[in-house]
Parts: sequence; structure tokens; C-alpha cells
Amino acid sequence: MAIYEINGGTPLSGTVTISGAKNAAVAILPAALLVKGQCRIENVPDISDVRILLEMLRGMGARIEQPEAGVVVMDCTDVGFCQPDSVLVKKLRASYYLMGVLLSRYGRSLVALPGGCSFASRPIDQHIKGFKALGAAVTETDEYVSMEPGPNGLCGNRVSLDVVSVGATVNIMLAATLLPGQTVIENAAKEPHIVDLANFLNTMGARISGAGTDTVKIRGVEALQGGTYAIIPDQIEAGTYIAAVAATGGDVLVKNVIPKHMECITSKLEEMGAEITNYDDSIRIRSSGKLCGTTVKTRPYPGFPTDMQAQICVCMALAGGTSRLTESVYETRFFGYCTELESMGAYIQVEGKTATVYGKESLHGATVRARDLRAGAALVIAGLAAEGVTRVENIHYVERGYERLIEKLTALGAKIRRVEEY
Ligand code: EPZ
Repeated sequence: MAIYEINGGTPLSGTVTISGAKNAAVAILPAALLVKGQCRIENVPDISDVRILLEMLRGMGARIEQPEAGVVVMDCTDVGFCQPDSVLVKKLRASYYLMGVLLSRYGRSLVALPGGCSFASRPIDQHIKGFKALGAAVTETDEYVSMEPGPNGLCGNRVSLDVVSVGATVNIMLAATLLPGQTVIENAAKEPHIVDLANFLNTMGARISGAGTDTVKIRGVEALQGGTYAIIPDQIEAGTYIAAVAATGGDVLVKNVIPKHMECITSKLEEMGAEITNYDDSIRIRSSGKLCGTTVKTRPYPGFPTDMQAQICVCMALAGGTSRLTESVYETRFFGYCTELESMGAYIQVEGKTATVYGKESLHGATVRARDLRAGAALVIAGLAAEGVTRVENIHYVERGYERLIEKLTALGAKIRRVEEY
């Protein structure tokens, strides 16, 4: 089993370049199946979730080349209807985007239920609600979701989501793209990766408006043609590095970011005492490592992202005073990492949706275990800031979403290495 071994206590300094956004890539790559022609997709992160999706799409008949780092050239013109490999589907949550894609292109779909990080119950009832509103007859079992046209056929419709769901917004956008008629998604998610998907689809000839607001309109088109598109930078990867510098202290220029996407994250870290300077496509963070406590409530975008909950908690654990962290998206997300942080000396009390974090002067190294992607990233940050040696197990979670993590952190002066056989 591979682990990360970290010698903590070194302030981070230098420059780090952020990769393409994981949650945009895992929506855009399946979306290429809607295109009859060649798509050149740039700034694709080399992470395990992307590698699994590409293997899945190749298995479905997509012609995929990767001529250089970060570039995927995909041609799905001749891809016939088929069920994606269930073993691969179960390896990541975003596999469920193939439900919407297959329904849109072939008028039917058969996809196993997805896998992915299980830090909370992650239902798909809103996805199903959307598919049914588009006229699909949906059969759900414990293993898969299958769809075919209902008695009135498939066509655009109005869908009002009961909860703000990124996945459901994406899946309904994908399903509606090639259907006749207009679809309106109300109470839609507004995350940057929703906008990125809409921009990709529109580049290929779709007619989507309102992405990034709570009302997204999709006018169905007959077909999409090929083109070139570059994926946006990953705001959560960038936020993770910024939180790491805040926790360890140091001075780092974070390149290839969209500062607008980072506002909620950077403003919170400024409140805690970090010094943030925004440039056009980069952010400089300076920190003494001495932070002060604050209050954070996670919210759907543009609020403080739930995917930064664990990382900011580490900063709170090292901050002066008491902090409060309230989770509004996934209530049980704390359990992926708080116990592990306590084994490093943190003092955190979780009651329902709120964690009260009593800041400590320092954390000490320990052997800890990642339980999901962002929890694992938080444990790496804790190890970088702690005194002594920290070993992080289950690092496959972390490698799902962070491209070249060891290389990027080492370049910032971190003493971290990947130990293959532990
Ligand atoms: C996406 O998950 C992201 N994953 C998650 O990032 C992220 O935490 C989440 O959005 C929130 O921003 C990808 O984009 C691949 P949701 P998703 O549907 O789409 C409830 C990471 O670390 N809900 O927005 O699954 C749900 O239970 C990952 O990169 C329903 O009730 O999240 C949750 O409480 C982890 N019914 C809330 O909505 C549904 O049908 C938001 O979930 C769907 C969701």
C-alpha cells in the first residue's frame, strides 16, 4: 500500500501552477460523447478520475488520443449505444453523467449506479426527477438505472430542482442538449464547472444560456460538431494550496487561477490573517503561519465550498482562539477527517452540522488514514504544518483529484515523499 510520508514544519515558498478543474473535466469528457466530430479538450488534469473515465469511454468505442500532457483528442462519431463498463462506473461518482449523455444521444440509457467518495449519502433522486420531466421512463434497481422514451416520447421541459445539486444540474443539461424543445432548469447549481460545461457544449454547437445563474435554459439542437476547448483551472486544488500556505506559513504564487472563483476561499483566509494579492490569473499568498480563528458556513457556489471544509478546518485547528465550521451540503462530511486530526493533537467538537475547533499552538505527526478525496488533502496539509513525521494512508483517494501533488509540493519546499510499499 502506498503512503505519503511528510516531515512537517517547513514553510512553503515558490510557485505552483494549478491544473484543470476535476469537476469540470469529469463532466466535459462524457459530454464529448454527444459530439459527432473531433473534440480537442485542453487543460485536462492527469488524475485517476480522468484516467478511469477515458478508459470507460474508450471501452464504449470512443477514439481517444492524448498527443501531449493535458490534451485529449476524442472522436465519438461512430460510437454506438452500449452500457459503460460497470466495474469502471463504480469507481467514480461522475460516471452517472453517462446517464444523461446516453439518453440525449440515443434516446435510452443503461448505467450502473456510480461509486466515488462515500462521505455522505449521495442520492440521485433529482437526476431521476429531471430525466422523467424530459419524458424518460426510468427503471431503478439496486444495481443500475435504465431509461427509455416514455409514452409521450422525449422532449424538453421545465425542471425545478428541490435541492441545489451540481450533479443533477449537469446531468439534466447533458440529457436536454440533443432533445427537441426547450428545457429550463430552475434552482440550478451555479458552480464554475457548470458554466464550463455549458461553454464547452456551446462551443460544439449547443444552445445553452443562464449557466452560472439559478435558471439554466437549454434549447435542444439536432447535432453537435467538433471543436477545441480548454478546461478552467481547479478552484478547489488552488484553494487547497492556499490553505496549505496559510497553515505552514510562507510565500507562494499560485498560478493559473481565476481569482473570481476563489473569492469566498481567499476572503476567509484573509480574515484568518493570511495576506492575499490577486492578479489577473494568479494569487499570491503570504502567511506567518500564525492565524486567528473565524466562522465558516459552507454553501453552494458562490458560498464557501463544501469541498474546502476539511482544508479550512486544519487552518482553524492551528489558529488562535475558537472557530466554528458549519456544513450545509453534506452533514456527515466531518467524520472523514476530524478523528484523524485529533490523533495529531487537534481539539474539535462536532455536534450535528457544526464543528467547534479549539485552536492549538501546533499539531504533531501521526499515522493517519484518508477516507475521501478532500479529507485526504486536509491530512496532507496537517502533516505539512505538524511537528515531526506524518504518514498518510489510503492516498488513492487524494490521487483521484490532485495532479502531480508530490512534485508540486516538493517544488514549494515541502518534505514529502510517496512510499510505495509501506
Ligand atoms: C459535486 O457532487 C462534486 N462532485 C462534489 O465534489 C461536491 O462536493 C458537490 O458537487 C457539491 O459542490 C463532482 O462534481 C464530480 P450535489 P454532487 O448533487 O454532484 C443532495 C469533490 O471533492 N442531492 O451538488 O454529487 C446531496 O445529498 C467532490 O470534488 C440530493 O438530495 O453533489 C447533497 O446534500 C466531493 N439528490 C446536495 O444535494 C440528488 O439527486 C448537493 O449535492 C442530488 C444531490
